[in-house]
Amino acid sequence: MYVLCNTIACVITTLVCLSFVECRMKYQVCVVDGRGSFRKAAKYCPILDGPDSKVECIIGLDRLDCLRRISKGKADFSVFTPEDLVTASTLQVEVLVTNEMRYTNDAFEYEVVAVIDDEARIKTRYDLRDKRLCHPGYGYEADWTQILANYLEVSIVPQSCNPLLSLTENRISSSSKYFKSACKAGPWVNDPVLDNELKRKYPNLCGLCNSPTVCSTDDKYWGRRGPLLCLTDGVGDITWARLDDVRSHFGLIPGSAVTTTDGYSYLCQDGTTIPLNSTTQPCVWVVKPWPVVASKRTSAQEIQEFISSLSHSDNNSWQSALLNLIETYHLTIKSVQPIEAIESYLSRATGFLSANSFPGCHPPRTVRICTTTNLENAKCSWLREVSTVYGIEPDIDCLKADNKTHCMQGIAANLFDVVIVPADMVNQAKTSYQLKTLFYETVLNEEEKYVTVGVVRANSGITSFEDLQSKRACFPKYDGVAWNSVVHTLNSKKLIKICPFIEGMSEFFSDSCVPNFPTNVSSSLKALCKPGIYDDEYGAMRCLTHGNGDVAFVSKHTYSTFFKDIKEKGDLRIDAKDYKILCDNSDESCHLSWAPPGQAMIRLNSSSLWIKDTLDVFLQMDNLFGKNFKSLTTPFTLFGLFDGKPNVLFHDITNKLRDIPKLKNTDTMKKEYDDMLDKFGECVSGGSTPLTVTNNVYIFFIICVLLFKF
Ligand SMILES: *[C@@H]1O[C@H](CO)[C@@H](O)[C@H](O)[C@H]1NC(C)=O
Ligand SMILES: *[C@@H]1O[C@H](CO)[C@@H](O)[C@H](O)[C@H]1NC(C)=O
Ligand SMILES: *[C@@H]1O[C@H](CO)[C@@H](O)[C@H](O)[C@H]1NC(C)=O
Ligand SMILES: *[C@@H]1O[C@H](CO)[C@@H](O)[C@H](O)[C@H]1NC(C)=O
Ligand SMILES: *[C@@H]1O[C@H](CO)[C@@H](O)[C@H](O)[C@H]1NC(C)=O
Repeated sequence: MYVLCNTIACVITTLVCLSFVECRMKYQVCVVDGRGSFRKAAKYCPILDGPDSKVECIIGLDRLDCLRRISKGKADFSVFTPEDLVTASTLQVEVLVTNEMRYTNDAFEYEVVAVIDDEARIKTRYDLRDKRLCHPGYGYEADWTQILANYLEVSIVPQSCNPLLSLTENRISSSSKYFKSACKAGPWVNDPVLDNELKRKYPNLCGLCNSPTVCSTDDKYWGRRGPLLCLTDGVGDITWARLDDVRSHFGLIPGSAVTTTDGYSYLCQDGTTIPLNSTTQPCVWVVKPWPVVASKRTSAQEIQEFISSLSHSDNNSWQSALLNLIETYHLTIKSVQPIEAIESYLSRATGFLSANSFPGCHPPRTVRICTTTNLENAKCSWLREVSTVYGIEPDIDCLKADNKTHCMQGIAANLFDVVIVPADMVNQAKTSYQLKTLFYETVLNEEEKYVTVGVVRANSGITSFEDLQSKRACFPKYDGVAWNSVVHTLNSKKLIKICPFIEGMSEFFSDSCVPNFPTNVSSSLKALCKPGIYDDEYGAMRCLTHGNGDVAFVSKHTYSTFFKDIKEKGDLRIDAKDYKILCDNSDESCHLSWAPPGQAMIRLNSSSLWIKDTLDVFLQMDNLFGKNFKSLTTPFTLFGLFDGKPNVLFHDITNKLRDIPKLKNTDTMKKEYDDMLDKFGECVSGGSTPLTVTNNVYIFFIICVLLFKF
């Protein structure tokens, strides 16, 4: 609780207020803005600033960010899904459940049941072998997580752990062997190519679909109603569905037109069956609890009371504004009595906690991610828990090393499996540690890519790479994107006269600055360096603008932000107009290379099975927690601030993770850096054009030999 005071009036109010017992303090509600029409903070938070309001807004980055804020005492309450609560419980974050946000009078958001056709002669759960399964399928994970979708199969089908198959494929293969056929439409995995492959390998799991060869989310038997139609069309023997959907499909809702329930029963987990028209309670396998309001222990009682009292009776009131902020379509707010800790609250939800703790394969196939700071490790740990709750397999583990170099060494030594490195480190990862790429952090537009350009003074007269001969160059770092792109460009233009490359570069340029240049080599390429001043991207630009260098090789992004930043700092001596990007007239594009901001590196000898499995883990995370998440608000932000800090573990500008460097297949930008590294070419000394001193000496020597001989 804080007293908000940013006006004189408020200060006076506070002073007056302090002299009375009933002092008006504000509770802080943590609000997560959704997409589109769910962007409500800007609309409703200002109303909460009014003098009568008991609450003020704190904007959270995502729902789990709100959870962390509450546990740190930086917010009082917020709304969470039951999956968020499971994450909180595993990470031992203490919050209390005060109210349920319901939209019906039912105790749970939904309950999941198994319904059988009596003619299928299923008497117990052990009779399901070789039967025909109707299943809602995949592709609407926002409210139907993998965990709930797979619950029936994980409970009854013996799970194989073939080491030659991925975990997902093991699960699919187990079901395929167990059931005679099924309709499980929609994407089984994220990668469409792999999805197709699996569907062709296990065709009986699409066999009951209306279009077995397509087996997509457009199928008649896909979705909430689909599996019930599948059952009553006589296509399947058993269906996995929501109880409310079963009731409406069979006309079991009071007052609805009764269709026949004859010949259908609920199959119970204890091995019994109950006729659908029975008056006894149907048997439920697993439930999905309602979203809840959860708060700090100290203010739980008061928060429960005033949340319960909220109503829309006055549209303009702060109470109505708060209600609009915390609910989407939930009409009834139910007090949880007594106010409860997460674990005991969830233990009353049939199956929900056990759904999150089915045993995996042994030995475990945990993917070990290397982190380099406490903050990265914290983000990774939250990612681990939230991924488990949404059923992403295999699980991940987060192990901290001192820096990225140690991570790369550790991967080569099989201590870790994955590290995400910036583009500048990719060559080192490949050449020094024999790593290869698992996925790229792809971005939306050119601005966000690392596009290497050469920047020169506008009046320098430099118009081609040939003109750069004997000029002073400034680089961000040795072996980075800019350095390697320049080496490659000069080499392909046959401008490198001496091998190896570092000697050829020393010979081509005059005194220059290449930070981190190997210490055991003495070279003119270190001559201009001023440690701490000319390091990295901005350092290279300073080296140029201070007049020490004639050309700086940096990213196009740096080129534009550098001058903007300088202007903002009020330095008028340096003007963007005095500089330009070197556009080699023999080449229509002015860039030397481009690279995505980062990529994940793995061991070169990783098996193709492991790669498939691991790539799918990250693609699923991207789907659920990336920029294109499907739910109204996101539980977790993969690409964005974490605890207020940018670029933790991943780059914030990342739009999508892909196994190719570009976001869209239609992106035709040439000179991709990774491709350039793979086709780098040998250093070929002694190009055709001007003879260097070394060559002259060599020719002189030959002439002497010839003269001597005759
Ligand atoms: C349920 O249906 C069966 C078969 O039609 C019938 O015999 C039974 O009486 C019905 N039970 C109830 C409670 O309606
Ligand atoms: C609240 O606003 C809605 C439309 O925005 C209006 O229909 C309704 O009558 C209002 N209710 C009150 C109590 O002002
Ligand atoms: C990591 O630390 C080692 C020393 O332990 C150092 O040699 C190396 O340059 C560091 N790497 C990075 C990327 O900072
Ligand atoms: C400098 O050290 C690196 C690795 O430590 C080595 O590969 C290289 O040959 C050395 N170069 C010289 C000129 O000694
Ligand atoms: C790959 O190399 C690592 C370390 O060199 C080794 O421990 C591992 O067994 C190898 N994996 C495969 C699949 O060959």
